[in-house]
Amino acid sequence: MSSTVITNIATLVTNDPSLGDNSPLGLIQDAAVVIDGDRVAWTGESSKAPATDNRLDAEGRAVLPGFVDSHSHLVFAGDRTQEFNARMSGRAYRAGGIRTTVAATRAATDAALEANLTRYLAEALRQGTTTFETKSGYGLTTADESRSLRIAAAHTDEVTYLGAHIVSPDYADDPAGYVALVTGEMLDACAPYARWIDVFCEKGAFDGDQARAILTAGKAKGLHPRVHANQLSYGPGVQLAVELDAASADHCTHLTDTDVDALASGNTVATLLPGAEFSTRAEWPNARRLLDAGVTVALSTDCNPGSSFTSSVPFCIALAVRDMGMTPDEAVWSATAGGAAALRRTDVGRIAPGARADLTLLDAPSHVHLAYRPGVPLVTGVWRKGVREL
Ligand code: NIG
Ligand code: FE
Repeated sequence: MSSTVITNIATLVTNDPSLGDNSPLGLIQDAAVVIDGDRVAWTGESSKAPATDNRLDAEGRAVLPGFVDSHSHLVFAGDRTQEFNARMSGRAYRAGGIRTTVAATRAATDAALEANLTRYLAEALRQGTTTFETKSGYGLTTADESRSLRIAAAHTDEVTYLGAHIVSPDYADDPAGYVALVTGEMLDACAPYARWIDVFCEKGAFDGDQARAILTAGKAKGLHPRVHANQLSYGPGVQLAVELDAASADHCTHLTDTDVDALASGNTVATLLPGAEFSTRAEWPNARRLLDAGVTVALSTDCNPGSSFTSSVPFCIALAVRDMGMTPDEAVWSATAGGAAALRRTDVGRIAPGARADLTLLDAPSHVHLAYRPGVPLVTGVWRKGVREL
């Protein structure tokens, strides 16, 4: 197993307060990191770095943990440019647009779905993402949901069964029959490939009672819940997520004070997805309100062809800082340690001895530049499990 030291790092984000300046980001200036095999072995001041097999000079750039994108929908086919164009001419976003992608996904071969997934994963990696979650939800038959998850599981451990994205068009007149399928035969076929179960709890998708039945059935099969909650309107999703100890309530755009209190008192992370508000011209989720209430906040892309066709975590960081009341430090924490918390992972999202060696090198002296220089491709190096990928 070879070891590498990266020296001369102007700013190192460890996300471990005790390793650095006692801030949540655990910053170390003039730092070094030692990678041993697939793990981080050491962090500290550059002048104190131990000798290793290989040495790389970061030349005064910043290093931070690889981004943890805890919410994406990357098993799909087709394109919804027309829908986006119509929205930018004033039409509202509706959950029903999902049906367009369902038709294209059902018609695609396994090879085409996998090629599409691989392409977006490569795109995300180039922008610093080293851990990602992805979902089914564009198949909505037992065969199409299970093949979507099988394809996803070949590329990530963080696979989510979202048979309950919308009621399948095949069951338009029988939503109860569709819930029975999602909690029965489809769940049985999908559970072996997935770690998580998700439901789109929203008007036009699934109501609170349906969502509870679906998530409870998934739990009984060993899947852990996460919920698309309170995206387009106020509703029961967030409180249901907390009640069922979901790892995350995702979107959280329309929240009552009771919703915020529930999140603050439970173990459910609020995952904010500003790419969706950007691409649907909707109001921004209020990150400041959540942070001030003590809620753990994650930031992710929601990459999907309908409501948020971006794989860029840096773009989401910039939006969150500009429009959602987050400081650059908070946004970077949420896109790394926050994403890890939303996946209940402690091995990623931080650069500390024992953690997975997932690192992003920026062509900038500090992580603040991710928001300060929006739209600029600052990611110039990426290590995943100790292997340099970019
Ligand atoms: O997270 N909210 C539900 N699902 C996706 C949208 C999917 C689509 O429009 O295709 C989301 O925004
Ligand atoms: Fe989503």
